[in-house]
Amino acid sequence: MTTASAPIWDGLLLGASLATLAGAQGYGEVADGALGWRDGVLTYVGPRAALPDAPPRLAREVIETDGGWVTPGLVDCHTHLVFAGERAREFELRLQGASYEEIARAGGGILSTVRAVRAADEDALLRQSLPRAQALLADGATTLEIKSGYGLDYENERKMLRVARRIGVELGIGVRTTCLAAHALPPEYAGRADAYVDAAIEWLPRLHAEGLVDAVDAFCEGIGFSPAQTRRLFGAARALGLPVKLHADQLSDLGGAALAAEFGGLSADHVEHTCDAGVRAMAARGTVAVLLPGAFHVLRETKLPPLDAFRAHGVAMAVATDCNPGTSPLLSLRQAMQLACTHFRLTPEEALRGATVHAARALGLADRGALRVGARADFVLWDIGHPAELGYWLGGRLARAVYAGGRKRA
Ligand code: NIG
Ligand code: FE
Repeated sequence: MTTASAPIWDGLLLGASLATLAGAQGYGEVADGALGWRDGVLTYVGPRAALPDAPPRLAREVIETDGGWVTPGLVDCHTHLVFAGERAREFELRLQGASYEEIARAGGGILSTVRAVRAADEDALLRQSLPRAQALLADGATTLEIKSGYGLDYENERKMLRVARRIGVELGIGVRTTCLAAHALPPEYAGRADAYVDAAIEWLPRLHAEGLVDAVDAFCEGIGFSPAQTRRLFGAARALGLPVKLHADQLSDLGGAALAAEFGGLSADHVEHTCDAGVRAMAARGTVAVLLPGAFHVLRETKLPPLDAFRAHGVAMAVATDCNPGTSPLLSLRQAMQLACTHFRLTPEEALRGATVHAARALGLADRGALRVGARADFVLWDIGHPAELGYWLGGRLARAVYAGGRKRA
């Protein structure tokens, strides 16, 4: 039974402008906006003047701000943030001229992080990884995709995925887990990549049965897995009803983007070397292009993704940090947006859409990424005068408050 004084909102935020991103284009600006939520879900998004209860009496908490902008919580749709150790020494080697591939072939690269992850127990891995998730959250990310891929055996992949889940619970944010067992060939399978893929296919149903897997990914590359091996893994994933995404065409064009699209992939990621046929295949299946300007920047790449072709064919472009110890030690999605603007010439609006609406799509999530009634109450209050500033500043602290599920988390 409702009485006249029963709160209709758990929270009501007033005094800021909104960038809802709810339409097909533009920021979806609402000057002098109001945002109301209840039970973790947005129940009012619009001008303050049109509030059904004004002045507001029926809210448990009213947050009055003096300007600023509210956007949807950012969605980081590609991270490897669960890992142990770091690889600063390799960074030095690369600056002295060694390539990422040379270091990988010499047993460094991903495999050096695999050794560190295998040596860490679950609590130690959580302790090392949590501050990275906190940093991303503090700069506005309320949903994180987190991949495995540094365990490369059943127990250690499981450990990584369990840590990813624990991060979501600990911080009260959305976490989507991706099994990336096909990231690199572990030493015990040297020369037997097909046998390793068979093993990964065998673990997958067990990990899935434990509720640890939301999607399946692979590194399809000369130093990773072949298209044929990727195809076998993806067949197994789809048979379990799991969506796929792919590290595609990062260092060379192996037709990865088209392969991801062939399996109805949520996304093809990196995509620097993707050719026109790949772009068309992605457009036909609605596969999102996830741009990872952090890795592009750190590896000092020069080959740009086919940005104009993505635009021309209507392929949605997401932006993510790719937070990882090797190629993208990047702890701010806003910074990734800035790099996407600088290196890939995305407009700040495209970058913001890429880190919200399109990133949510790259994770198959329809309940977030834009401010609209019925969406999760994930939002950020920024100390800025215009939303373009989110793709403009390098560093600094712009997020005044970050809410996930209707609760202040940072
Ligand atoms: O997305 N390309 C493969 N995976 C990561 C790098 C991981 C690592 O070097 O540890 C990436 O760039
Ligand atoms: Fe990656």
